[in-house]
Amino acid sequence: MGADLRCYNIADLRERARKRLPLGIWEYAERGVEDEGGMARNRAAFDAITFRPRVLRGVSEIDPSTEIFGQRIPFPLAVAPTGAAGLMWHKGDAALARAAAMAGVPFVISSASTMDLEQIAEAGGWQWFQLYLWEDRTLSHAVVEKAWQLGCEALFVTLDLPVPPNREYIQRNGFGTPFKLNARNTLDVLTHPRWLAGVMGRYMLEGGIPTQANLPDRLRAKVTKGAPPGALFKQDDLNWDGAKELRDRWPGKFVLKGILHPEDAERALAMGADGIVVSNHGGRALDSSIGTMDALPAIVSAVGGRMTVFLDSGVRRGSDVVKAVAAGADAVLVGRAPLYGLAAFGEPGVARALDLLQAEPRGTMAMIGARSVAEVKAALTA
Ligand SMILES: Cc1cc2nc3c(=O)[nH]c(=O)nc-3n(C[C@H](O)[C@H](O)[C@H](O)COP(=O)(O)O)c2cc1C
Repeated sequence: MGADLRCYNIADLRERARKRLPLGIWEYAERGVEDEGGMARNRAAFDAITFRPRVLRGVSEIDPSTEIFGQRIPFPLAVAPTGAAGLMWHKGDAALARAAAMAGVPFVISSASTMDLEQIAEAGGWQWFQLYLWEDRTLSHAVVEKAWQLGCEALFVTLDLPVPPNREYIQRNGFGTPFKLNARNTLDVLTHPRWLAGVMGRYMLEGGIPTQANLPDRLRAKVTKGAPPGALFKQDDLNWDGAKELRDRWPGKFVLKGILHPEDAERALAMGADGIVVSNHGGRALDSSIGTMDALPAIVSAVGGRMTVFLDSGVRRGSDVVKAVAAGADAVLVGRAPLYGLAAFGEPGVARALDLLQAEPRGTMAMIGARSVAEVKAALTA
């Protein structure tokens, strides 16, 4: 199989991932919450945007590079934090990080990763760290400190899950935490032998099912056992004062993830955040959420140009990247798109996803007559 892996768009990678993963893991990666209205609105908002292309602009040289936090990246995209990437592929977090480094785009390490930060840091490239607060706040501060020591230059604090999301399918599939084999998931796992041998089997040979890697040893629980006190994520009591405290403790760039209201964006700017992510967690948090591309314009009017505005949730095509940038985002994050590649082929699959998400925007830019990101920004009004 060549470097294209016979996958010619993200949907092809998605289909390969779906076949390879047990249903319970597949649905964990793919699905939203409740009736999946938020996911549908994310896509509908992208699909509703169209360009009025300009011609005769001489588009033989297209430059999709852009500057984020003072550094140039080859295209306006970063890999979003996704916990449990280690269930899609053996040591999946490192595979994501390596492929991002090779593509020259930033990688956001998830608080819920199943690999130690040290191991992920070894992958190199430009890495950032995403935080969910553990119930024991000293634990959170220690993990954040470690992320800084290891060279993570930006801290993303995720705000859109103040309480656990209502993911009914997790219960239906019997894939909850604590993870237990039962009649429903045993057959599912056994009928996916490549996943069973290549992912679970390799972990078993190495000593067991992965743990929540960012916890100190005394609190680490195998997913089969459930979390001990203090080791659960809990931030229903977090408010602006708490966020400010985190801001003041962190020496690097500080980003709030999960902003959908322009007043929250203004407040983030006022409290000293360097960036925000306009995100509804890929439709995995509040189901009745506004689509992120619908939320973006008011937020850009409020804070655009004064802080870095990322957007995620639903990006599947290069044209989506161009639309987000044209509507005022500085860059997009992609969650599921690289995960599809990971689950299907490991690191080469992630590389393929990133390759597509670099090549497709170039084509769209040429078609609409935008030679640079600056020209893309004018494309929706031109
Ligand atoms: C399987 C999976 C796990 C995720 N885990 C995290 C996480 O640990 N922390 C976080 O802030 N966001 C997490 N997210 C949300 C992503 O960072 C991102 O906001 C979302 O995936 C964007 O939508 P997209 O998947 O349509 O690109 C996760 C998303 C998925 C699909």
